[in-house]
Amino acid sequence: DAAELDARIRRAKAALGKRAVILGHHYQREEVYRHADFHGDSLQLSRAAAEQEAEFIVFCGVHFMAEVADILSRPEQASILPDLNAGCSMADMADMPQVQRAWEELATVIDVEQEVTPVTYVNSSAALKAFCGVHGGTVCTSSNARKVLDWAFGQRPKALFFPDQHLGRWTGYQLGIPLRDMPVWDPSLPLGGLTPEEIRRARILLWKGHCSVHQMFQPAHIERWRREHPQGQVIAHPEASFEVCQMSDAVGSTDFILRTVKASPPGSAWLVGTEINLVTRLASEVRAEDKTVEFMSPMVCMCSTMFRIDPEQLACSLESLLAGQVVNRIQVDPETAAQARLALERMLAVS
Ligand code: 13P
Ligand code: SF4
Repeated sequence: DAAELDARIRRAKAALGKRAVILGHHYQREEVYRHADFHGDSLQLSRAAAEQEAEFIVFCGVHFMAEVADILSRPEQASILPDLNAGCSMADMADMPQVQRAWEELATVIDVEQEVTPVTYVNSSAALKAFCGVHGGTVCTSSNARKVLDWAFGQRPKALFFPDQHLGRWTGYQLGIPLRDMPVWDPSLPLGGLTPEEIRRARILLWKGHCSVHQMFQPAHIERWRREHPQGQVIAHPEASFEVCQMSDAVGSTDFILRTVKASPPGSAWLVGTEINLVTRLASEVRAEDKTVEFMSPMVCMCSTMFRIDPEQLACSLESLLAGQVVNRIQVDPETAAQARLALERMLAVS
């Protein structure tokens, strides 16, 4: 039962001591989240992974996060993902052959190496980070996208941004780029479905990718809630659509959302557009201050892959480490890792 699983995790963790560190993303379910030594958004967890001394970095998050931990840690450290099926559907919306093809097709219209900085959202495979490393590009997260794109434009006049069109569009809009100069590249169409003229005038080429969780939030949800809560405030993650971000009072990473709501005065009311496990935990943490926190969608939409990490798997992962077996290790091949590290280090230097 739940209490027994909790006790198993505590026992194994205590027995491993400093040999293992548990990192937990804010979307993790409470029964897992409470065992993490560090919590954070993607950027904070990337930094935490790079700073760890432990032999084992147990990542309660999704696959690309454990890959980043492997890339940024030392070769003798092992990055563990308690469930190997915990992926990210958005990360799967751009793969290496598609991006390589886009680069080659763009090269028929413009001088890509001189004109385009490739920028990948951290929600992507290590191979795509390596692509960015090799082509003078970088990585961003939801909390540093603005700084990173600013840096990208300091290198070359255009950016190819993948896989999340919404984060790219929202960030470009904040930098003052008109929407018409941010066309969407559809990898299933020749030349991304764009005309050479659209490509020549583009400032950011957005990739046709999105998060299936955040796309559920709709402007109508905000309108309805505002009618009932005229004093309330709306906060959303930048993976939500442009319209939802525009209608929100604040937009930012998971950590930004937590900090902003926690810092608001007692009695505040918030409508929150991000994953439900974060929202439920936040609501219970601020209830004592008489704050209300509501989830933006009337439908329960959670990140089913984040949810794959359950207490049973966490317990089993820790127990196998104790027994001398390193299971569910995420290992990026050394060449890809070196190229991806280049891109990640450029990101860490500007953020
Ligand atoms: P954060 O970087 O804000 O934690 O977001 C990660 C993520 O996957 C959001 O869906
Ligand atoms: Fe990926 Fe969306 Fe889940 Fe974040 S919430 S890990 S972007 S599927």
